[in-house]
Amino acid sequence: MELSELITLFKEQFNRDPQVLAEAPGRVNLLGEHTDYNDGFVFPAAIDRSMKILASSRDDNDVRVYSADFSQLSSFSLSSIEACRSETWSNYLRGVADQLIKNGFSIRGGDFLISGNVPVGAGLSSSAAYEVAAGAAFREMYELKMDNIQLALLSQAAERQFVGVQCGIMDQFVSANAKAATALFLDCRDLTYQNIPLKTNVSIIVCDSDVQRALNNSAYNNRRTECEKAAKILNEKFPGARALRDIPLQGVEENKAKLGETLYKRAHHVVSENERVLMGIDILRKGDMHTFGNLLFESHSSLKNSFEVSCPELDLLVELASGCSGILGSRMTGAGFGGCTVSLVESGHAENFKTTVQPEYDRRTGKNSRIYECMPSSGVKAQKL
Ligand code: GLA
Repeated sequence: MELSELITLFKEQFNRDPQVLAEAPGRVNLLGEHTDYNDGFVFPAAIDRSMKILASSRDDNDVRVYSADFSQLSSFSLSSIEACRSETWSNYLRGVADQLIKNGFSIRGGDFLISGNVPVGAGLSSSAAYEVAAGAAFREMYELKMDNIQLALLSQAAERQFVGVQCGIMDQFVSANAKAATALFLDCRDLTYQNIPLKTNVSIIVCDSDVQRALNNSAYNNRRTECEKAAKILNEKFPGARALRDIPLQGVEENKAKLGETLYKRAHHVVSENERVLMGIDILRKGDMHTFGNLLFESHSSLKNSFEVSCPELDLLVELASGCSGILGSRMTGAGFGGCTVSLVESGHAENFKTTVQPEYDRRTGKNSRIYECMPSSGVKAQKL
């Protein structure tokens, strides 16, 4: 929806003008999957799809939030914030408000209107975009002293508490700290990062498999527990190791029997994926997009065979992509179990890619896939209106 329409809607809902506009993007992860909660490395980019929030402060503790996309209103009081079972979309704002209070920020209530074009449930982090935009709206309204790293951490805590996914920091961090025309290389242990320029002659194409991904089902949290178990076992051999990030690949190989089949596979993915990110950054700096693209294919195989979070539809999308002219690399992106793939394609071949992969995938699966060409975009923005 256009901003002017949203402003009209805000006035209709709340009988007043909005004071603040906050906007935060979704993301596509290029490399480094399921590494963030292992203290590892990730390389996501923010995309040109975002959540917008219009807001006005109140002098009481009431919060009213209207979803333009669901045409629903939800209300709560800051004095007792609880998760909502009916308007579940409102839980992101509830979680963020709760975290702001717990972290000692002085806030009052507000009227909020939210709307976005990040596809929901597709693995493009619509929820992180919503949380970061909500935090930024509060920050702008109440002039809170909070930098974008803290904003990301607080948004992550909101997701964990109120949505029940033990997610890592990647999604909220990139939504808060991305820069246009770059991807963000993040060390998830100490949160140092660099915005690395991307080639303009390469298209980033996201294919949504139309397989809905339920992130808060137990599979994600399960993988996380498995990784922690593997790190604990390996810690006996590598006493300083706090997480899988600290284990060399050889260490995983040498302890295969001790780990057992499943934990070995999980650890192998995480450790090798971290290596791929570090290698990828080096390669990208040298401008070798073909070798970088190969790392995406390798990442997909590892996610499929070792981490076991792919699905037949995502595998098919990668297979179809690999046969296209101008293809550099392709893999599932995000948590997996459905959602999207990301493909890097030489720009001159992007149109051909879209018209080849989509119909063939839909024909073979009976699904309605969607394809988005994404521009690497900047992170959260907020302004007074
Ligand atoms: C989800 C989580 C992230 C990350 C990815 C997998 O998007 O929110 O923290 O763990 O899955 O890489």
